[in-house]
Amino acid sequence: MARITAGVGSSHVPLLGVAVDQGKTGDDYFGPIFAGYEWTRQWEKEQKPDVIILVYNDHASAFDMKIVPTFAIGCGERYKPADEGWGPRQVPEVEGHPDLAWHIAQSLILDEFDMTIINEMDVDHGLTVPLSMMFGQPQAWPAKVIPLAVNVVTYPVPSGNRCWALGEAIKRAVESFPEDLNVQIWGTGGMSHQLQGKRAGLLNREWDNRFMDLLVGDTDAARWIPHIEYLRETGSEGIEMVMWLIMRGALGDKTRLLHKHYHIPCSNTAIGHLVLEPVEEETVPA
Ligand code: DHB
Ligand code: FE
Repeated sequence: MARITAGVGSSHVPLLGVAVDQGKTGDDYFGPIFAGYEWTRQWEKEQKPDVIILVYNDHASAFDMKIVPTFAIGCGERYKPADEGWGPRQVPEVEGHPDLAWHIAQSLILDEFDMTIINEMDVDHGLTVPLSMMFGQPQAWPAKVIPLAVNVVTYPVPSGNRCWALGEAIKRAVESFPEDLNVQIWGTGGMSHQLQGKRAGLLNREWDNRFMDLLVGDTDAARWIPHIEYLRETGSEGIEMVMWLIMRGALGDKTRLLHKHYHIPCSNTAIGHLVLEPVEEETVPA
């Protein structure tokens, strides 16, 4: 059967995509940021995931105020990089996994999560920047990707608890797919950042690190953090962090930390990155 073998959390700052595309990842500004992803790039080469469920948010590239899906799943064959105003990034097309995606969509909907099903869309920096951070600049992305888009742009956005519960349902969905597949789930976005208004530039190192630490081990305290706390402590765009809770919820009761990286600043944002492994329940001998 298919299994979720790991969870990855990562910021998706668009400037990081520019750094990769323009060959600046080793310079004084970007060097320390990319150094913190080196461990993961090596680890991914060994892990060779078949499929990544990539939880991300669209930034008015595929969706706009005409349609605002709370949770959407990509069931298509492939997705093109979006044109975000400077032309599409020159990165490979993203290949989907329609069989697993449709299976997950069916399982989630019968599990009472009313997903929007997307067969055609372009994917923006929210999805392509994490791929660049984890895989560099390959000719083709080394894994298939199921995009799972979350509305964190327009209120009302989903609660942390609902995101965590969706992760739990994704775990059930993947484990009921009969084919042997190595599946990873990535939660992206964050960390603290505010891009506009009086508090533009707000960063909160202590809060971000406490949030990441809460995702390790067996507590589910992070699922209960209210929207107002993200807003107050991490700025208006810090709410992107609820997407990490979908990843964490899909890893089961307990996780082990494999890698952590935090860096301030990058553009207007704090960079956070985690690699987590689910810890299977021990079976007690009779
Ligand atoms: C920035 C961060 C984001 O999450 C985003 O979607 C756009 C811009 C930034 O820090 O510049
Ligand atoms: Fe963003």
